[in-house]
Amino acid sequence: MRLRRRSVEPTHEDGTVPEATSGGPRVGGGDEWVAEIITAVQPFTMTSAQRIYGLCLAVDHVARHQIPGAIVECGVWKGGSTMAAARTLDRMGDHERHIVLFDTF
Ligand SMILES: C[S@@+](CC[C@H](N)C(=O)[O-])C[C@H]1O[C@@H](n2cnc3c(N)ncnc32)[C@H](O)[C@@H]1O
Repeated sequence: MRLRRRSVEPTHEDGTVPEATSGGPRVGGGDEWVAEIITAVQPFTMTSAQRIYGLCLAVDHVARHQIPGAIVECGVWKGGSTMAAARTLDRMGDHERHIVLFDTF
């Protein structure tokens, strides 16, 4: 079983911070909303904070540019990644898009 990280900062397994940290939220630089989402969904996802960060930015881009289509996740586990996508859509006022989740359950 993989360990889940509690921090929003990207870290190595031993807790050290990688040299290139540009892939994580810039707390104090306008990414506080992403940090809040990461904190909220971490108990429900195996996905790293850095990847949830990327997911939120991608969904934000799709909503901001009104790119049509559903959000689909194949293999959701406890749903944390989709929660992050849904919270990002909600924040953008995008409430019409279909969200489809697949798993063996
Ligand atoms: C690594 S976990 C997914 C983690 C998830 N994306 C998250 O945010 O934590 C892989 C998931 O894929 C599901 N899965 C594996 N094989 C599958 C299949 N053939 N069809 C549907 N779901 C599958 C498992 O049940 C598990 O929930």
